Amino acid sequence: MRINNKHYRTVWYDATTNVVSMIDQVKLPFAFEIVELKDYKETAEAIRNMTVRGAGAIGATAGFAMAQAFKSFGHSTGDLQIAKDFIEATRPTAVNLFYATNKVFEAGQAGVEKAIDMAQSIADEDAEGCRLIGENGNELIKANSRILTHCNAGWLAFVDYGSALSPVYAAKNAGKEPFVYVDETRPRGQGARLTAFELYHNEVDHRIIADNAAAFYMSKGMVDMVITGADRITANGDVANKIGTLEKAIVAKEFGVPFYVAAPFSTFDFATQSGDMITIEERDAEELLYHEGPDSDNEMRTIRMASPGSQGLNPAFDVTPARYITAFITEKGIIKPSELKSFC
Ligand code: MRU
Repeated sequence: MRINNKHYRTVWYDATTNVVSMIDQVKLPFAFEIVELKDYKETAEAIRNMTVRGAGAIGATAGFAMAQAFKSFGHSTGDLQIAKDFIEATRPTAVNLFYATNKVFEAGQAGVEKAIDMAQSIADEDAEGCRLIGENGNELIKANSRILTHCNAGWLAFVDYGSALSPVYAAKNAGKEPFVYVDETRPRGQGARLTAFELYHNEVDHRIIADNAAAFYMSKGMVDMVITGADRITANGDVANKIGTLEKAIVAKEFGVPFYVAAPFSTFDFATQSGDMITIEERDAEELLYHEGPDSDNEMRTIRMASPGSQGLNPAFDVTPARYITAFITEKGIIKPSELKSFC
């Protein structure tokens, strides 16, 4: 993805220096900064505090963190297992994280170089898979389609291209001029901050809407399709995604709006049968009660959004049952939930 005429991936790794670099997503969209992380603990902390976030980007980062551990410890099995556990304890819901740590850990049994190669190929496959998701999803988009999306499943949530936004970019490149309703995505605001930032820089026409405005636009026939990403898709086609996705899916079904979930195969968890078995991350309620942003002098400020003294609850994800999903947009094509069995 290009920012100020320079191509960036969301996260990358220099095996010579053992440094992982990433775009700081906590600072976006108010500042564009790169952070450098010198060991697996710093990289894992960046996953935990959401300097990097989004299923694919978390997966690639976790793979790189595992490679950093191999580079630091060689074949010290105890240290490597401690590192793996540490990385895996950062965030529980996106399966890409565990996909990457397991693959790099296994590859590394044949040597440090193999661990590094595997981490790199996970990142490369993520980018290529998302590019293909764009090509496949573009087939579903008509000229001037009005698309609603939730959270950020763009290039910032992956290594490049994105999942839900990749078809939008492909449609834009094909001259179809898509329009995107961007759910703000409380409490962290991934829609208002990150999806809007991406669409603005790609000159895609869009408007940020309050999370609770989606039903209004769908009821008026003003939304042609919904495309979201996913953090984990179970064998029966249930989807864990950012909190609020379930509500959008129910509303879409009520008003006959097709509901697509775009995800690479690294997000499919065929070992888990159904969505009720997924661990849902519960995050600090401070994210709900406070908001951070620049004041009129461009100084970052944190303000309280809620009545003093009240506490909050902050589940980060919900599970949308397969019956609400029209189809999955994947690198292998468009797949209906009922067709998933043949891939398990
Ligand atoms: O908590 P986050 O920002 O890591 O949330 C994950 C997401 O970005 C969304 O759930 C997204 O729609 C799917 S991840 C590509």
